[in-house]
Amino acid sequence: MSQKKDWMLPDFSEAPEAEPDRQYYFISQVKKLVRQRSGELGRPLKVFSLVVGCQMNARDSEKLLGILEQAGYVQTDQEEDADLVIYNTCTVRENANQKVYGRLGHLNNLKKQNPELKIALCGCMMQEPHVVDAIKKSYRFVDLVFGTHNIYKLAELLYLRLITGQMVIEVWDGAAEIVEDLPVDRKYPFKSGVNIMFGCNNFCSYCIVPYVRGRERSRNPEDILREIRRLVSEGVVEVMLLGQNVNSYGKNLDTPVSFAELLRRIEQIEGLERIRFMTSHPKDLSDELIEVMRCSQKICRHFHLPLQSGSTRILERMNRRYTKEQFLEIVGKLKKAMPDLSLTTDIIVGFPGETEEDFLETMDVVRKARFDSAFTFIYSKRTGTPAASMEDQVPENEVKDRFDRLLALVQQIGQEESGRDAGTVQKVLVEEVNRQDECMVTGRLGNNVLVHFPGDASLIGTIIPVKLTESRGFYYLGEQITEEE
Ligand code: 5AD
Ligand code: SF4
Repeated sequence: MSQKKDWMLPDFSEAPEAEPDRQYYFISQVKKLVRQRSGELGRPLKVFSLVVGCQMNARDSEKLLGILEQAGYVQTDQEEDADLVIYNTCTVRENANQKVYGRLGHLNNLKKQNPELKIALCGCMMQEPHVVDAIKKSYRFVDLVFGTHNIYKLAELLYLRLITGQMVIEVWDGAAEIVEDLPVDRKYPFKSGVNIMFGCNNFCSYCIVPYVRGRERSRNPEDILREIRRLVSEGVVEVMLLGQNVNSYGKNLDTPVSFAELLRRIEQIEGLERIRFMTSHPKDLSDELIEVMRCSQKICRHFHLPLQSGSTRILERMNRRYTKEQFLEIVGKLKKAMPDLSLTTDIIVGFPGETEEDFLETMDVVRKARFDSAFTFIYSKRTGTPAASMEDQVPENEVKDRFDRLLALVQQIGQEESGRDAGTVQKVLVEEVNRQDECMVTGRLGNNVLVHFPGDASLIGTIIPVKLTESRGFYYLGEQITEEE
């Protein structure tokens, strides 16, 4: 889908052609307009950002806010106060779409109270033609719509909207160039997501991601390393490498580099203390990666390995390209190499054609793999995916019953597994002052589990040894210990 215009394009001949210079030009143009308008109003212009969905979206929104801050907008967490509202949407499951439509009604009311308000929608949901059609038809008050491939163009699109006064829609079908070096407003000073690749080539039959995020594109290792070095120089101690399928990183580069090799190079960065990554696809998980992890001082002992289903028959219909036995074999290898590894997963219940027998296979894998935690989802039919046209959709009441049984098992095992580190001393990255008790701080173990212990804000962003004194199910209470102890 390309942009459809019913107005004359303004003259942008002064704008540089090359990126990111072009976007910096538009950031300065928007800034002039923002300054002028806030001068007239006698107050700053405010932006409210909402992000739903995965870590990839969270990172995208940091980029959007980086651009808007440089253009002069000030952030607000009150939607009612905003002059610009920007929703970064998800469409992995249908309920996410419904929520956005629900909120749009509310935004329409806000716009009536504040005519200044501009509404921008972006992200995965906007990549779906039927969504854009619905917005054009029934939500005319929306100002700006763009997709996942052109978020870097926010300043240019917003400028176009501000000077034409027309709804601007720009959604690209295919992959775009990867534009480096645009501003980013990071949520945390001490940890950051880092995109290593975009898109997905797997076409799992239930999943809409390959349609809305396009084909796999890996960033150059040099660009990734440069970004991480810069982040470290700014105080970041933990990075989360992001991709839909990080295990296939680098395959499409001019000089291919494996994910394991990339990790080896990132490990060398001085000052970086923790490396995380997500998400892995079991079919691409190499022995080399397990070995790099095992030997690493920095890669966290946490692996998110989506199972989706434990039935080989359903896995085949899902186009996952591994069997129940192969999945369990990988789990065995990971746990043998790293006995302290925390293993988490995603599971879908009620995929078309799933019988009680298939479901029991999933329960069996959950019992055998003993995941520390699992995200469980009810299958959601996504228009345009192969599974949506499969005939034998499972009746709702059966799905609900299976979902409840699965959740109970996952929670029971999670509870049994959690607490296994009680009594030990672990390194903790302190993230914030405890929300319930300001004499306590909250931090994260390498395996991603939370710990609360006495401390103050001065500890935020540091990695310190903490004795896990008590397990409380899914988190620990602890005590900071001094080095001598
Ligand atoms: N229905 C339900 N869950 C889904 N996921 C992806 N697509 C669907 C769908 N159509 C889940 C998968 C994936 C996670 C991010 O979302 O489990 O791993
Ligand atoms: Fe979707 Fe499968 Fe790609 Fe994950 S690997 S984003 S589930 S298609």
